[in-house]
Amino acid sequence: MFDIVLYEPEIPPNVGNAIRLVANTGARLHLVQPMGFTLRDKQLRRAGLDYHELASVTVHADWCACCELLAGRRMFAVTTRATQCYDVPAYRERDVFVFGPETRGLPSEILAGFPPQQCIRLPMQAGSRSLNLSNAVAVIVYEAWRQLGFSGGN
Ligand SMILES: C[S@@+](CC[C@H](N)C(=O)[O-])C[C@H]1O[C@@H](n2cnc3c(N)ncnc32)[C@H](O)[C@@H]1O
Repeated sequence: MFDIVLYEPEIPPNVGNAIRLVANTGARLHLVQPMGFTLRDKQLRRAGLDYHELASVTVHADWCACCELLAGRRMFAVTTRATQCYDVPAYRERDVFVFGPETRGLPSEILAGFPPQQCIRLPMQAGSRSLNLSNAVAVIVYEAWRQLGFSGGN
């Protein structure tokens, strides 16, 4: 299935939503530190996550460590700065989707590592700034999974 990377996430409930989403869709979640909280955070616990849901989560000390683990995989940056709509690429099993922090988005130096055909955006109304992080993750995972015929789902 897919791997989802949250780069330096800031808001525990967003991470809680993403953990539940990956557990329900068969994806895996990667959290890149620094984060302003740990997986033991009360707000995360309040999301009512089961122990097994946390099994699909890996925490990385930094971006380099995350890239090392995912070396060789096709990676997409999900960013408001892309020009390509998210429904254009033909997604494949084992694709990786990278999301930015809530207040800043992905830094330019990280975006610079992605070719334009591997940058995707979700359309919004003119003048809108961005979607909530966990909503953006849900849309992308379900589009990619839809393209694979919801393989493994029922
Ligand atoms: C709250 S947004 C960050 C807002 C930040 N000011 C920006 O423009 O990137 C958090 C993350 O959700 C994803 N996101 C939210 N809305 C998006 C959109 N319309 N297109 C692509 N990614 C989006 C991106 O990964 C973004 O870094």
